[in-house]
Amino acid sequence: MTIDKSFRIAQVDNRIYGSFIEHLGRAVYGGIYEPGHASADQSGFRNDVKELIQELQVPIIRYPGGNFVSGYNWEDGVGPVAERPKRLELAWRTLENNEVGTNEFITWAKEIGSEVMMAVNLGTRGIDAARNLLEYTNHPGGTYWSDLRRSHGYEQPHQVKTWCLGNEMDGPWQIGHKTAEEYGRLALETAKAMRLVDPEIELVACGSSSANMPTFPEWEAVTLDHTYEAVDYISLHQYYGNRANDTANYLALTLDLDHFIHTVKSTCDYIKAKKRSKKTMHLSFDEWNVWYHSNDADKQIEPWSVAPPQLEDVYNFEDALLVGSMLITFLRHADRVKMACLAQLVNVIAPIMTENGGRAWKQTIYYPYLHASRYGRGVSLQPIVDSPVYDSKDFTDVPYLDSAVVYNEAEEEITIFAVNRHLEQSLELTCDVRSFEGFKLVEFIVMEHEDLKAVNTADEEKVKPHHRGQAKLDSGMLTASLAKASWNVIRLKKG
Ligand code: AHR
Repeated sequence: MTIDKSFRIAQVDNRIYGSFIEHLGRAVYGGIYEPGHASADQSGFRNDVKELIQELQVPIIRYPGGNFVSGYNWEDGVGPVAERPKRLELAWRTLENNEVGTNEFITWAKEIGSEVMMAVNLGTRGIDAARNLLEYTNHPGGTYWSDLRRSHGYEQPHQVKTWCLGNEMDGPWQIGHKTAEEYGRLALETAKAMRLVDPEIELVACGSSSANMPTFPEWEAVTLDHTYEAVDYISLHQYYGNRANDTANYLALTLDLDHFIHTVKSTCDYIKAKKRSKKTMHLSFDEWNVWYHSNDADKQIEPWSVAPPQLEDVYNFEDALLVGSMLITFLRHADRVKMACLAQLVNVIAPIMTENGGRAWKQTIYYPYLHASRYGRGVSLQPIVDSPVYDSKDFTDVPYLDSAVVYNEAEEEITIFAVNRHLEQSLELTCDVRSFEGFKLVEFIVMEHEDLKAVNTADEEKVKPHHRGQAKLDSGMLTASLAKASWNVIRLKKG
């Protein structure tokens, strides 16, 4: 590998370390919020969970869905809690009691240092509900909706900047599913009205629910044909799983992710050319993760339960490697991917798990997310890599070494993130860092495990990072031994 100060991809937008909380399963109730829990604060939010989230330094959290938002009446979640209605929640077929809503969530997010990425309902609702919600959250006062907020005890506007125009509107499962033409028109008109209420906001149009959708990428082309000048981002969603238990192929899935991002970029640029526009569309990868472990268990859940354990994937060590590789992929696309949300944050396909009334703990995927969020802030540099390759069931020429490099100019630090995809052998990394004069090796964090299927539980954290890796920096040449099937974080600092 060679890295050089001048091989700049782009400044990393810290919001690529965002996450997501949906009113789904135990994400809110029993996750972030559990009045009566020993660690609950005065508002009922769990302090033990807050601490684990704060450690991750999550810059932005998407809310309230997800599929949930497409049937949500935001008015149900504001005002005196005792008067809030209980509703049939149709996306996940549960009961929603609306104890937590817009004000509580935004207040909680501010407390943990996160911005909110708010989604509006373009499934069962539309322009009117969206503009009213925006007036409620962002207008200072003196109007019906802003004064309603004030009467609810929130004198100051929340100033929510980032808004999603619906969720996965291309998916037949979505309540109020639309064709690209229908969605494009509605998204444009909603964007226009919302910008009239608050011109400072940023808007995200729905892209495809995954690269496998039959309407991908025509959906993006049609949607952007309508909305190109009215929105700032197009969304991407992607979940992976090792259903066939073929780890070599599983770890190569980021080649698919890379291709997905390239295709969306190209589609955006085609519309840009078609419209003779000067604006470059950015990408918001606002749902991504591994999701498959809980699929069977979810079929057993009784309809209309309150906060049942839905989508509770228990992540193993190989999932952490894939999550690390996904983060590496976003860093290498730092010029276009400006936001990304690990879906989700607590209990529901999440890095953090809780017991109702009990403990909270870190899943395996917590760690690559933590390392990237902590050390992946700065300029993303393009590493020039010469790696041996392998073929898997669906991919050819898969490099064993997957890597990204971030240069934090202010702190004079460089971080190399690297996954060794080789399942049997270590990789001996040699990295030319001569352009960074006076830098020293400060830390080498390694995650490895003999058992690719090892998991963490409330009782035992089997999968966690260590500092026993072998690395040295001599005359501008860094050498490190990257253990078989491992996640590696190598940190250099000047002086
Ligand atoms: O994150 C879980 C679900 O995945 C979201 O509700 C939906 O947007 C996606 O299909």
